[in-house]
Amino acid sequence: MTAARPGRLLVATTNGGKLREILAILGDLPLTLVTLADYPTLPEPEETGATFAENARIKALAYASATGELTVAEDSGLEIDALNGEPGVRSARFNGESYAEKFATIARMLAERGADSSTARFVCALALTRPDGLVWEATGIVEGRLQLPARGHAGFGYDPIFYYPAYGRTLADVTEAEKAAVSHRGQAFRRLRTYMATAV
Ligand code: IMP
Repeated sequence: MTAARPGRLLVATTNGGKLREILAILGDLPLTLVTLADYPTLPEPEETGATFAENARIKALAYASATGELTVAEDSGLEIDALNGEPGVRSARFNGESYAEKFATIARMLAERGADSSTARFVCALALTRPDGLVWEATGIVEGRLQLPARGHAGFGYDPIFYYPAYGRTLADVTEAEKAAVSHRGQAFRRLRTYMATAV
């Protein structure tokens, strides 16, 4: 693999919660990690894909061609089985400005279907690109269950309503290391770390 700028990797996400988790996993790679804070004026690409993988590719390619950097981007979200996989790729844009509102919408939609819980999963698709195209991609999935009301204050997004049975807690009620050990993002980015360490 030839890096666009040798020894550098742009971690392209505008989500602070994701960035923190990703940097914790990639931090020990012998690479200079740069972020979108190093490119503050770049426009955000529109997420027009129908799948997590498509959106990850769209974002990674847009940022790689705008910066000339070897770039990793990810797209992720929550799939709730009782809601036919919603909010899925719309997780960030799902009904409601705040997560309290999003959780209330989910509770209402479940109640309309006579349910108060559901199996669910977080999915993370990542794409590694150079300015001239896709280099490598990976996916991570963590299976769990929706649990309302929300519990815990760690993590971000839907973590307070995502109950992980093996921990007996939501992912907002565990440490960052415990979340990373099992999470969709943890799995996908550990695969990237292994790839980067061996493929150069
Ligand atoms: P996007 O990938 O920028 O479209 O946003 C993904 C959205 O999915 C986030 O804004 C969260 O709402 C949700 N999400 C993704 N990963 C996690 C996670 O690890 N915990 C909680 N919510 C997540």
